[in-house]
Amino acid sequence: MAKEKHDMELRPNPRTGRYRLISANWKMNLNHLEAIQATQKLSFALRPADYSYTEISIHPPFTDLRPLQLLIDSDRMRFSLGAQNCHFEPNGAYTGEVSAPMLSRLNVSYVIVGHSERRQYFFETDEVVRAKVEAVFRSQMTPIICVGESFDERQRGETETKLRAQVDSAVSFLAPELAERCVVAYEPIWAIGSGVSAKAEDAQQGAVTIRTVFESLWGKAVASKVRIQYGGSVNPTNAADFMQLDDVDGLLVGTAALDPESFARIIQA
Ligand code: 13P
Repeated sequence: MAKEKHDMELRPNPRTGRYRLISANWKMNLNHLEAIQATQKLSFALRPADYSYTEISIHPPFTDLRPLQLLIDSDRMRFSLGAQNCHFEPNGAYTGEVSAPMLSRLNVSYVIVGHSERRQYFFETDEVVRAKVEAVFRSQMTPIICVGESFDERQRGETETKLRAQVDSAVSFLAPELAERCVVAYEPIWAIGSGVSAKAEDAQQGAVTIRTVFESLWGKAVASKVRIQYGGSVNPTNAADFMQLDDVDGLLVGTAALDPESFARIIQA
């Protein structure tokens, strides 16, 4: 079964019935010593009540996973461990890659799949993303599937078409019991690392487009369970604007999550 930490104290959003999820994507930052320090600082900065409203996942580089797993377990921290990527095969001659079963063995709960940086710099296609979604579920973890349009695509009015195509390709093969467990992150490429976030109404519109794909594939009941995050220049000041949206259930945070204090303020927003 899933390893999400929906423990007793975590309460779903009364408005939507869905569990909120705020995730730190550290990208290629923080070595394992820095990672331990950052996680301890984050834990100090949060109050017990902060964990009641939101599940928090930390996605460090692969080399930090084992030390963070030990820290989280030994100090009984209430963070879920996440990864930023995995290979779609369980093992084999794929030099330099890390598989889903290896992550699962480290108590990883969530794996980011198809981040735009992987699509752009590592040439991940929709087919590869789809295979990774399948691999993550096969290892009893949950994928955070990233989708989003480029600046040019938005200018050309192609946002909806792009989102629909990316989501459909990544999830259409799933059985409904798995489809409803998906997390999808709407990350407009132009908003990532730019300091310019999407407007709240654009984030809501993107989330609606994503949910509609699930609805057309499996109906309302499944679509209403899917959790959708917004990502792209989230900071302590704008976080609450996104968390109030009807179809946004969480955030995927890059730059601002590298500083434990600012990430704590995002969670508390
Ligand atoms: P920033 O928060 O730095 O814009 O990055 C967002 C992101 O890519 C999270 O996956």
